[in-house]
Amino acid sequence: MRFDTDFVAWFRSVAPYVNSFRHKTFVLAFGGEVVADGKFIELVHDLNLLASLGVRLVLVHGARPQIEARLNERNLQTSYVRGMRVTDAAALQCVKESIGRIRVEIEALLSMGLPNSPMANAAIRVASGNFVTARPVGIVEGVDLMHTGEVRRIDAAAIRSRLEQGELALLSPLGYSPTGEIFNLTLENVAAEAAIALKAEKLIFLMDTEVLEKEPSDGSEVSLLPELTVAEGKALLQEFARQAVRLPEDAQLYLPFAVQACERGVARVHLISRHIDGAVLMELFTHTGIGTMISEGPLQNLRDARIEDVGAILQLIEPLEAEGTLVRRNRELLEMEIGRFVVIEHDSMIAGCAALYPFPRDAACELACLAVHPDYRSAGCGDALLRNIEAKARSQGSKKLFVLTTRTAHWFIERGFVETDVGELPKAKQGLYNYQRRSKVFVKNI
Ligand SMILES: CC(C)(COP(=O)(O)OP(=O)(O)OC[C@H]1O[C@@H](n2cnc3c(N)ncnc32)[C@H](O)[C@@H]1OP(=O)(O)O)[C@@H](O)C(=O)NCCC(=O)NCCS
Repeated sequence: MRFDTDFVAWFRSVAPYVNSFRHKTFVLAFGGEVVADGKFIELVHDLNLLASLGVRLVLVHGARPQIEARLNERNLQTSYVRGMRVTDAAALQCVKESIGRIRVEIEALLSMGLPNSPMANAAIRVASGNFVTARPVGIVEGVDLMHTGEVRRIDAAAIRSRLEQGELALLSPLGYSPTGEIFNLTLENVAAEAAIALKAEKLIFLMDTEVLEKEPSDGSEVSLLPELTVAEGKALLQEFARQAVRLPEDAQLYLPFAVQACERGVARVHLISRHIDGAVLMELFTHTGIGTMISEGPLQNLRDARIEDVGAILQLIEPLEAEGTLVRRNRELLEMEIGRFVVIEHDSMIAGCAALYPFPRDAACELACLAVHPDYRSAGCGDALLRNIEAKARSQGSKKLFVLTTRTAHWFIERGFVETDVGELPKAKQGLYNYQRRSKVFVKNI
């Protein structure tokens, strides 16, 4: 039997996500292109998998290319005001026909038993209904947009009860008014309002681009934007309005709603590529993700450790203990000493940790158990943990910070530590020094 350690490490790395996603609501929005391209079948496998892990799914589909094609078939021209289509009675007929057709196709694909697929015989039950109430956009710049509408209300209670039955809710970019009229909506408006009303954990838009890029119009260097805060998202939109940066067409549509949803309580919004098979899984189940993630505040947070962090800290330090870089600590010891630890959290995952052991008689402290997960290295986490530990030591009246290390000497030297003798350690620590490990002792005056 071959022991595949990569598999075990991978499985363990995915487990925290599986636990935290169970019974959470994800809203996934995609344009009509996904269905037109025949890509939806790949997505169905992944949706099935998410559903089987207990994720509550709401799908919001678009139909722009299908509506465009139908209008062309019937030789109908529609005009636009501020980017919004004027939906007259004839255009509304095309909208209804296109949305009806695409909905049936989506439902059929979601109903497939998918033999020979990763989720054989796992058909999804689809819930549909009059979940979206709409109102007319009205008159803009003197033009009546007629059947073009916006979301007035989402019946979150009705959707939630279907989700709790294990069904998937499918929403179309159509809404009804209390007077019985039908309105043509945008998928981004429906998706954002649904995510807000359902207090969704995640809102995911599938787009053409892989990761949002900041592409300055003056030709200066393009930068990738794997993570954005709401404030950064707003600043980017303002720069776009001033024509200082370029944005892909679908990002121009989705980003304002993504930012708005985050501001109004959706924990995370993801913009990911619709062209990569498995993109949704890669974005959701890997530390780094593959698209752009938007959150209200910074994703990284340095804080004192809590007892619930013990498991994650153990997972982080175990490989380093096994290779001899860190001294072994068992769960009981870690639980007892958790008050000495600080952690860096990245999007609710523990990315790094460090501990501080005070020796007040010697006006000194020891920094121990400094570790950063390999996925987050070389991004300043180690520095941030060290700065925090130094500040804590200083506030306790310490003048010196010690560290014992076997393999990381240069990292500490570059940060102002100098090598010293075991005899310089606080007396209480000298007694515990392990002569077999032959760690080097470093000290920094703080
Ligand atoms: C040491 C460690 C905490 C640094 O974390 P980090 O978040 O990557 O640190 P920073 O981003 O602040 O610094 C990264 C820089 O340190 C360098 N660095 C990392 N490990 C190093 C080492 N062992 N020796 C010298 N430099 C090192 C990196 O190359 C990088 O430099 P670069 O940006 O010029 O390439 C991390 O590498 C780690 O967890 N190592 C294993 C555990 C360990 O050795 N802990 C110390 C035990 S006392």
